[in-house]
Amino acid sequence: MKLPGLKDFDFKEKRVLVRCDLDVPLKEGEVAENSRIKECLPTVEYLLEKKAFIILAGHLGRPQGKEVEELKMLPVAREISRLMKRSLAGYKKMKFFSFYDLGEDLLLLENLRFFKGEEENSPEFTEKLSSLAEIYINEAFAVSHRKHASVVGVPLVLPSASGFHFEKEVTSLSKTIENPKKPLVFIIGGAKPETKLSYVYEFAQKADWVLVGGLLPLQKEKDKENIIWASLNKNGTDIDESSIEEFKKIISEAKTLVFNGPMGKYEEPGSEKGTREVAQAVADSLALKIVGGGDTIASLTKFKLLNKMDYVSTAGGACLEFLAKGTLPGIEALKRGKND
Ligand code: 3PG
Repeated sequence: MKLPGLKDFDFKEKRVLVRCDLDVPLKEGEVAENSRIKECLPTVEYLLEKKAFIILAGHLGRPQGKEVEELKMLPVAREISRLMKRSLAGYKKMKFFSFYDLGEDLLLLENLRFFKGEEENSPEFTEKLSSLAEIYINEAFAVSHRKHASVVGVPLVLPSASGFHFEKEVTSLSKTIENPKKPLVFIIGGAKPETKLSYVYEFAQKADWVLVGGLLPLQKEKDKENIIWASLNKNGTDIDESSIEEFKKIISEAKTLVFNGPMGKYEEPGSEKGTREVAQAVADSLALKIVGGGDTIASLTKFKLLNKMDYVSTAGGACLEFLAKGTLPGIEALKRGKND
């Protein structure tokens, strides 16, 4: 798949809007896990080197069109300032948008989801966002399954390209789905059943097994012989002992494994066992191991198993949608984009 890339543009003295994956886990007002932020930085550094003026934009959580104090981007701004060794020179306002000032050629907009128009993909909001810049870069593969203004609206208005990390996700995940070695096993969990449940049934068409944990078993709609819904402990915070054993056995026989979404509340010591043991079984397997999602990465980091994986996608739902359909709304928007 060939998408317009950074090398196709001259960025000198251009205002460039970079939609990033900044939806990171927070703990006590700090970024608890920063891989998504780090993955955007090569694109940002490249644009700075090319003398662009950069407007970073992203979202945190699901504030549903309202300003929510604890979902302000300040912890992200602090983390960017720490990683890029730039001072944070305050919180300012430009036209319609508040932003964190990271120097004269770099700023970070406040949470895009504080505006209803972002998720509604309203033409007015798209227009406001587009008016900030001359070129748009999508460096937010993890959000590119959402038909939101900053993902599918802006690239139809501004000349657009994919960022380095976005391109890497597309290339690496494409390789994974072309002729996978069998048995192919998907392990799907996490706390977003409304996003992930439909993929469980889709993957059951092509995989040998789909093992399902997290909050998804509570919302199952139908059974199929190769889908195994975990039974949960009595609080619903983890998969139970019998499911852990059943999942481990199937994982040990797999030749390709896709692991996306923790099995339970791995952050809490009393509920981490399912995720820890499943993650260990994945790490010990000789299969090709593809993992995805912010919480999956955070859990593997906690259990010191991240470096045992063959490919780590920072995307959760978007990774699943790409593996199921081979494209995403954000990719289609870049392809249709307004490049002359
Ligand atoms: C993610 O964390 O998977 C992305 O940021 C998308 O978030 P969303 O499910 O709230 O749209």
